[in-house]
Amino acid sequence: MRIGLVLAAAGLGTRLKASEPKAFLRLQDATLVDRALAPFMLRDDVAAAAVVVPNPAAAAELLGHMDPRVRFVQGGEDRQASVAAGLAVLGDVELILVHDAARPLVEDATVAAVIDAAKKFGAAVPALPIHDTVKEVGADGRVKGTPSRAALVLVQTPQGFRADLLRRAHAEAQAAGVRATDDAALVERLGEPVVLVPGRRSNIKITTREDLLIAEAILAARAQPPR
Ligand code: CTP
Ligand code: MG
Repeated sequence: MRIGLVLAAAGLGTRLKASEPKAFLRLQDATLVDRALAPFMLRDDVAAAAVVVPNPAAAAELLGHMDPRVRFVQGGEDRQASVAAGLAVLGDVELILVHDAARPLVEDATVAAVIDAAKKFGAAVPALPIHDTVKEVGADGRVKGTPSRAALVLVQTPQGFRADLLRRAHAEAQAAGVRATDDAALVERLGEPVVLVPGRRSNIKITTREDLLIAEAILAARAQPPR
């Protein structure tokens, strides 16, 4: 099956307070974009990758020698607009994966699990159980309640979809003026099923300075020979 990847890398990383866009920061010498792309580019069934960035010309120059399947695309106002810009250039693929450059530690096994489940069920996302207790807070800042953790999960990227389903979900959300922070939410509102596959704790989202430190520690642990 021909698979396309949209890598969302067009954010500015405001909460990280770095001097360059977050996706172009380095972890042990490799940019977040390069790290986030790597497990997808290892696969022969990934036919095309749209890497959505703030400045395509600068990205092409910075990242240099690139896989011929990769195209850089100008990002949009928010993540959803950036993913839509990537979808527009992907061409003829049957399955689409959407991944955030902010998750540079994604592993091959997660990519494989998402692809398998998306092929079978149409839409699949990696998820983790919640360990912290969650509170619902009112507009006045006071705690309103404590939802049961049992019915809640944390979701990650990569998220995988049948191409026609994801394209329809984006088009209908756009027409309805709906904005969401992940792609599965746009599929859910069509009433189509979204299945969960196991996520990994190490597939963290880099949002703040602390997250960069955690990512460095995870990479250092991976470099240790197995005992
Ligand atoms: N993203 C994007 N286009 C945007 C906004 C975000 O492609 N207009 C991407 C980011 O590059 C990131 C992912 O969506 O890989 C998740 O976004 P987030 O973690 O919020 O990254 P930033 O928006 O860059 O960070 P911040 O919100 O702190 O500015
Ligand atoms: Mg953001």
